[in-house]
Parts: sequence; C-alpha cells; structure tokens
Amino acid sequence: MDPQARLAAASWIEPDEPVIAPPGERPAYQLRREFSLSTAPAVATVWATAHGIYELFVNGTRVGDQELTPGFTAYRRRLQVHSYDVTAMLRPGTNSLEILLSDGWFRGRHGFLRKADGFGDRVAALLACDVDGLLVATGPEWRSRPSRITAADLMDGQQVDLRLPAPGTIPLDAPGWRPVHTPTNALYADRQRLVLPTAPPVRRIRELTPVAVTHPANGITVADFGQNLNGWVRLTGLGPAGTQLTLVHGEQLDAAGLVTTDHLRAFDFATKRPLPAGQVDVVISDGQAAFEPRHTTHGFRYVQVEGLVTQPEITAVVVHTELQATGSFQCSDHRLDALHEVAIQSLLGNACDIPTDCPQRERSGFTGDWQVYVATAALTHDVSEFSGKWLRDLAADQWPDGRVPTVTPNPAGAGPSGSPFLDAMEGSAGWGDAAVFVPWELWRAYGDPAVLERQYDSMVRWVDYAANCAAVRRHPDRVSRRPEPAPYERFVWDTGGHFGEWLEPGEIPNPDPAADHGIVATAYLARSAHLLSRVADLLGRREDADRYEVLAAAVRGAWQSEYLTADGVIAVATQANYVRALAFRLVPEDLRTAVADRLAGLVAEADHHVGTGFLSTGLLLPTLADNGHLDAAYRVLLSTGVPSWLEMLDRGATTVWERWDGSDGSLNHYSKGAVVSFLYTHVVGLRLPEEPGLDEGGYRRFTVKPQPGGGLTWASAQHETPQGPIQISWRLVDDEFRLTVEVPPGCLAEIHLPDGERLQAPPGSHTLSSKRKPGGSSGSYSSRHGDSRGLS
Ligand code: BGC
Repeated sequence: MDPQARLAAASWIEPDEPVIAPPGERPAYQLRREFSLSTAPAVATVWATAHGIYELFVNGTRVGDQELTPGFTAYRRRLQVHSYDVTAMLRPGTNSLEILLSDGWFRGRHGFLRKADGFGDRVAALLACDVDGLLVATGPEWRSRPSRITAADLMDGQQVDLRLPAPGTIPLDAPGWRPVHTPTNALYADRQRLVLPTAPPVRRIRELTPVAVTHPANGITVADFGQNLNGWVRLTGLGPAGTQLTLVHGEQLDAAGLVTTDHLRAFDFATKRPLPAGQVDVVISDGQAAFEPRHTTHGFRYVQVEGLVTQPEITAVVVHTELQATGSFQCSDHRLDALHEVAIQSLLGNACDIPTDCPQRERSGFTGDWQVYVATAALTHDVSEFSGKWLRDLAADQWPDGRVPTVTPNPAGAGPSGSPFLDAMEGSAGWGDAAVFVPWELWRAYGDPAVLERQYDSMVRWVDYAANCAAVRRHPDRVSRRPEPAPYERFVWDTGGHFGEWLEPGEIPNPDPAADHGIVATAYLARSAHLLSRVADLLGRREDADRYEVLAAAVRGAWQSEYLTADGVIAVATQANYVRALAFRLVPEDLRTAVADRLAGLVAEADHHVGTGFLSTGLLLPTLADNGHLDAAYRVLLSTGVPSWLEMLDRGATTVWERWDGSDGSLNHYSKGAVVSFLYTHVVGLRLPEEPGLDEGGYRRFTVKPQPGGGLTWASAQHETPQGPIQISWRLVDDEFRLTVEVPPGCLAEIHLPDGERLQAPPGSHTLSSKRKPGGSSGSYSSRHGDSRGLS
C-alpha cells in the first residue's frame, strides 16, 4: 500500500514549544503515546516520517538501524516515509511508541550561510502503527517534552545531559509531558509528497579506533583516527556524574597540536564576517552511560576532547549511505592505489543521503560536484538509486523557467532564496547541467533507460532554459564590443551567473555573477543539447532528437565562431578550455590534432602539472590520452609538487582536498578525485560506449583498451556491472604484454591491444598477449593470442 494511504488516519504533530530557541540551541523533543494490547501481535508495522530527523523507540528500545531518517529530500515536494516491522517489540499490556525529534535538515542549519529554518520553523512528526489492523497514529492524544538532548543541529553539533532520563523511558504519568499541537497548513495537508525511499539507507558503516592519542594541553586529549570521514564519535568512560566534556571535530591540527576548524569557516556575504565552523558536541556525564550523538554529523579526522578527568575510550563511527562497492584497482605503483583509496574515502565521506560537496563546511548537494563526479563514482560504487533519488529532488527544485539550482535539495525550493548573490548564481552552467549529465551517466553505467524517461522533462526544461538565455540576452561587454550582434550570437550563452571553470590552481574563490563565462556556458549548452538529443533518440522521441541535434550543432557552430580560430587557437588559452573543446567535441575534426597539440603544449608549459579547475579536471587525462598525448597524461598523473594529486598524498591527504595545497578550504571535496576514472578507463582500459544504443548500456557492450604507460609494469581492476563482474589485468613481462579479460554473461567486449589490433570477446575468460616489436617504441606491439576461446 502506498505511504499516503498508510498515513491517512495520522495527523501531523508538533511538540509543545512555546519559545523557539535560536538555531543550534534547540533541543530534541520526545513525542509519546502509550496504548494497550490484550495479546502479543501477529504483525505490527510502523510507518513514519518527520519534519526534522527522528529516531523511533518502541517500549524504550530504538527501532531499526537507519540513521538520520527520513533523510534529505526536497521536502516541500518529496518526503520519505520509512516502514519498520515492530512485531517482536510489542507485548500484551501497556506499550509505548516514542519519537525523538530534532531540527535536522528541515529546520537546522544548512549550507554555506549556515541558514536555519530553511523548510519551516517547526519540527513535526507523522506516524501510524498498524497492529493486526488496529491503528495507533499520531494525533492530539500524543504528548511531548524536551529530551535530554538539550541542543541538536546537524552542523553545529549536539549537546546531551546524560543525567536526565533516556528517551523512551519516561512514562506518560510522570510530570513534564505537554499536549502536542496538531495544526494544519498547506504543507501538512499535502500528502501527495509522501514517498517511499528508493535509495540505500544511511547507516553506521564502520568504527575506527584512534591511530594516535595526544595530550597537547592540560585536560585536553586529541584523537587522530588516521582517516578523514563523515560521522560522529562514541565516548565511553566519561568520568564522574556531572563531568562536562566538549568535543571539537576537525580535519587539521594547528602548530600546538590542537584541532583547528579555521579553514572551514564560511562567511556572511553581507558583512564578510566569518561564521562559526560548528562541529562541537557537549556531553554531561551521568557517571556510567556512553555518549554517541545521532542528531548531528561531522566531517573530521581528529576529535579534541576537553574537560577530561579520566581517559575515555574514543571511537569514530563512520556514517554514510550504504553504497555497495563495485570497483577495485591495483597496479605496480602503490601511489596510484593510494590515490584510488583516497578518492573512494572522499566519495563515502560525502555520501550522506545526498552527494554533498563536503561533509563539514557546507554539506550541500552542489549540482556541479555530482555532475563532475558521478561517472567516477559509478566505477567504484553502485550509485544508481542514490543518484536517482537526488535527481528526483533536482527536478522538484527546478524553477518554473527550467533553471536548476546550484544546490539540491534546496531550502528555497523551486524559486529564489532571497539572497541576491545565491539567486544570481542559480542556473550556472556546469552545475545545472547535472540535470542532463547525471541521468546520462547513470544510463551508460547501469543500462536502465527508466532514469532517462523519468528525468526527461527535467532535462528538456534545463536545455530549453539555457537555450532561451542564449537567445534573448547578451553580455554587456559583448554588446559594447559589438553593438550589432552577429547572427550566431543567439546561440552564445554568455549571461546569468556562472561559476565558470571554478578554482583553477591558485584561483581565489570569488564568483562574480556579472562575469562573462560564455566560453564555458556555451560549451555546456552544446554538450547538454547533444546528449538530450541522444536521450530523445533512445526514448523514441524522434522529433525532439532532431530538434536538439539541430540546436547542438548551432551552439557548437556559435562556440567555434566566437572562441576558435581557423588554425585551432582557443580565445582563452587555458587547459580547461582546450580540454572541454575536445571532450565535448566542439572542434571540427580537421582541427582536433592542432587543438590537442596546443593542449599538450599548455600542459608541458605547466611542467606537466594540472591546470584545470572543478569542471574539467576529470576530463584532462582522458582527453590528452585519446588525442595522441598518452605520455603527457601519465606525466600529469604522476607529477609531484603543487598542484598534483601525488603531492596531496605526500602531504598526508586521506580524502581529496578542495585546494591543491590544502591551504584553506575543505579537505574532503571529492571533485578532483574524478581523476581515478582514468585508472579504469585508460590504465586498464575499461570503457563504456560513448553513446550506448538501447541494448548496449550497463556494460552489455564495452571496450577493453589498456594503455600502459607511466612506468607501470602491471595493472588490474575489477568492476561489478549489472550483468556480472568484469575483470581486467595486464602485465608487462620483458617484451611481452599479457592481458586477461573476464567478460560477464550477456556482454560483448571489444578488446584493443596496444598494437592496435581489435578482437571481439564474448562472455568468458580471455588471455591474450602481444610482443613488443624489435626496435619498436614503447607503444608498439605485435599480438599473439593465448588461451582465448571464442575470440574473433
Ligand atoms: C562548494 C563547491 C561548489 C561551489 C560552487 C563551493 O563553496 O564547496 O563544491 O561547487 O561552491 O561554486
């Protein structure tokens, strides 16, 4: 039965809260109902959701093992309802149902500005418990009280007085319970937005014990967990009753060995004053219980515990969406294995029900970040439903004019937030294009066209929005340079606020909504229009397919007219612009070599260091390699010094940093980790078709094209596809290249040997080898097939 029907008889209840405390100081509330059963039930199921985050207790015992329910969605349009089997928890006689409710994403702080009350200023719960047909639902007979969680905010932290009774243990005949409120408003009345969860849940995934514990000052202990992570800390042995401990969570230590969060402080746009970094928990001991918050999360590697009188046991609890690992990679250079692991840890640290930019400073579902990373994530983890859920929110948050907000779920919903800066940046190219790129990459990786069908309208609205911006507005600089517009200019998208390439090495983040980022935005419009045309084609929408291909061609032509010379020089000569031109196929075929050579030239000028920013870092190495500069790609990958991935590792990164030198900014920002897709697609050579046909998505067709280089002597990867596992390993033995490939059932692989020979490989195990030709260069092989049944 659908969740709306399950909860039809339940009323929204709000705790009694005569005064709403300032954000970060609001308690979690207990909401309770007791009821009587004559016998133990045969089947009892609870359906629950909330504005805020809740834990559920039946007869004092916590229900289930999911965290931060009901999760983060575009609450005004989609609110998840979870169900729980509580049969074994009920008994004859009096039973209690209790909800522990805190601000969460709904009314707690969120985002760069740490704004509270994003979705409303009241927390509330909605629950129905079906006990063999008898319904116990939220309504006026419920009672509420503030809990021993005296303050709880997802960003600021949680404060608990353990001397007060635990949730679920105070009977209704005890003093202090107050009637709940059952107000109605349009949001409460809207039951259409109640939906079942489709993504894997957030859980406590693993625990870490400290790798080092130091005592940099009197009464202060700093635990280092050796890994930057998302989650919280469990403390046992808090000291005598009344001991107050403060836990500061951070990613960095200062010179004195104390935790510092200074690099995580955002600032108020208006006053430019820095905002507090938060991530501080406070616990008052009752002399025995352990502390483990569940109404906040932190991004941290270190915790600093202040106020200790005894030494507690300190454990980090890693919390994130339970994504199944689907990829592994190893090679002869352990630094690349380490880079692969660091990228994975960054992904996991940012998969807390939504893909976030970072788990500490903002925790926002930045559309651009997932746009650049989703294909890489799909190589290492099953992110199909995780992304699918987020895409539904993206569509729900899309403005009436089709623009996609920079962050989704977005507290402002499908319209302006009131912050002039944020509103001016909504619809940024490369960010909003997540509407097209993300479903497209999910289709390629998982082969289920349903995501394309579901998101089709959202894709169309985004591309139409961008095309319309291009058609009706011109950037003032262009107007003054060329008062009479060139005819192609109605396909140049140069207005609206854009982040541009964003954070190229050394760039100080200072987005200017008035800047002309036409060279980036027009490129994205061409790419999205083309992908949309491909999607339309797959879905049998021929007219749309033609229309958007015509648009893509016109925008590509406009980009060329405005930004590319006849001999392949791009107007703004950055690595990023050259990479994008090639990767998005903006360059006429006969100029590709010239453009690629210029890119290689820019890379060489940078002493083979990465010069791209957010949007094209993941595309840099594949683009070099696919356009005749494999050696340059490996040199960039293996370069050291700032900016480089290996330098980050040398400086101790355990997750990917926002800035190449780790100065300022978050230390857990996965976007640059997109480079690890090169390990799969080029080092071992596992490639999806660029534009899979209807029976080719999800690795039903794939290419194996290993491109050895960088001094590697062997490499191996496994990837779990919807069809089964693909295994690829190669090894260089003297002058021989030996390759083994495992093709899952129902798939067909095309194997490209380094000498250029191609073979069709059906399901099964294939072993091939090719010999380096006498006197040949490192890329020259002649092939010999070993045990390879069925190859043709
Ligand atoms: C975030 C990024 C995001 C960007 C938008 C930053 O503050 O952390 O990851 O994409 O803003 O430009």
